[in-house]
Amino acid sequence: MKFHINYISIEKLKNECLIVGVFENKKPSFSAQKLDEISQGYINKFIMSGELDGKINQSLLLYHVPYIFSERILLIGCGKESEFDERRYRTVIINSINILKNTSSTEVVFFLNDLCVKNKNMYWKIRVALEVIDSAMYNFNLLKSGIKKENILLHNIFFNVYKKSEIISGEVAIKHGVIINQGIRLAKDIANLPPNICTPSYLAVKSQNLVQKYSKKIILKIIDEKELKILGMNAYLCVSQGSKNKPYMSVIKYNGNYDTTKKSIVLIGKGVTFDSGGISIKPSRLMDEMKYDMSGSAVVYGIMHIVSQLKLPLNVVGILAGCENMPGGNACRPGDIVTTMSGKTVEILDTDAEGRLILCDVLTYVEKFNPSIVIDIATLTGACIVALGHYVSGLFSNDDTLANDIYHAGEEVNDKVWRLPMLLEYYDDLVSNFADFSNVGSRSAGAITAACFLSHFTKKYHWAHIDIAGTSWKSGKEKGSTGRPILLLSQFLLNKSGLNLNN
Ligand code: BES
Ligand code: MN
Ligand code: ZN
Repeated sequence: MKFHINYISIEKLKNECLIVGVFENKKPSFSAQKLDEISQGYINKFIMSGELDGKINQSLLLYHVPYIFSERILLIGCGKESEFDERRYRTVIINSINILKNTSSTEVVFFLNDLCVKNKNMYWKIRVALEVIDSAMYNFNLLKSGIKKENILLHNIFFNVYKKSEIISGEVAIKHGVIINQGIRLAKDIANLPPNICTPSYLAVKSQNLVQKYSKKIILKIIDEKELKILGMNAYLCVSQGSKNKPYMSVIKYNGNYDTTKKSIVLIGKGVTFDSGGISIKPSRLMDEMKYDMSGSAVVYGIMHIVSQLKLPLNVVGILAGCENMPGGNACRPGDIVTTMSGKTVEILDTDAEGRLILCDVLTYVEKFNPSIVIDIATLTGACIVALGHYVSGLFSNDDTLANDIYHAGEEVNDKVWRLPMLLEYYDDLVSNFADFSNVGSRSAGAITAACFLSHFTKKYHWAHIDIAGTSWKSGKEKGSTGRPILLLSQFLLNKSGLNLNN
């Protein structure tokens, strides 16, 4: 699928399908009105006859409209004009793409980006359209024997612009959008893989592929079990000790800033390729979904692709903290006490609270980069789903500016987060009679106490933690990775690079 900008007057177009909006109460959009004029009232005739009122889920496909060279016109209901907003814009794009999937069109021209969305420019509208279209087209058929390639008829998608000044911003939007979509696809693909294929060593192999591709800009260091031991990352190690699959931590360094003294941004992804719970084993219902416990790593992997492709002028360190949490004769037990890399001791009261054990050592490890910002991305707690559901990710931070920057990046691209408080009172929950702290609190506010646990290891830099337990995959009929929060993080990094074109 290829995307292009079109700057040709509508009457000259000879494409297979033109897509235009109609607002409720039979009100044509600017482009629909133009087509109506060219076709001498043909379009309005259909609208007026009651075939399409313009309500949000309505549509009408017209063939061989008089005086129009294009074969089809797809009229899409946009709802009330006064209510048309970001959400509606996304909905009309999704609705139109779902209709197109069932036609034989190979080439379409979108005019939906002429619809006015409050405070949003052409760059934003085209970026959103690309993202929505690509995610509607994504499926994971790699392991289905019958299907070898994606069967997409739609090859070329054009976005029409009316102003010359919008050609460039539209083209930049396409460039950014295509690269970000690729990163999202890569992340979804590894997250959707089964846990017998996507193991910690698989994550390390993927990182090696990344280096082969961007060898000029990326340096990779893979830290295996032996080296984890030398580094004293005992909390990380104790999670994997019940598993036959060895742990691997990939440290991917992207250097896009010639000023090497410039501090790095570090992104850490929880990479538990299967979380059985360990000795504190989980119930079997939906346990298969714990293959998604490496979604944080998948996101960091996708982001490193995006950063390298966009050649962002930043220094970014991405870490895939690969590990598997299994029960076994050698597995760690509830009651075990480990000494973390920081020197602090932790009593493991629940082996299913493994994410924080891995992350606490990685958070200490990254001190060596003297980072300006560290963000960890983790499917950390079921409690975060209870608190926030599946629409927003949980955000925690020891720095208000960083928290605001992340929050706003999420708002810009509709990959939202909501900050939860880390008040001192919550820390009391993590006391242990035998070690510096325990790895779990009492039952309440589990997402917060998990973040409080991590914050013990983040004193030396500005840090944010994004709990994606509720947002990184979908269950049920639509089961699959969402790739979140890649959109948020790529926008955050674009903004840091001075490349915010949304305003
Ligand atoms: N990976 C899970 C968190 C999770 C659970 C994500 C369900 C998505 C859906 C994490 O390792 C975990 O098991 N957390 C425990 C913590 C508890 C033992 C304090 C949880 O949330 O139950
Ligand atoms: Mn767990
Ligand atoms: Zn987990």
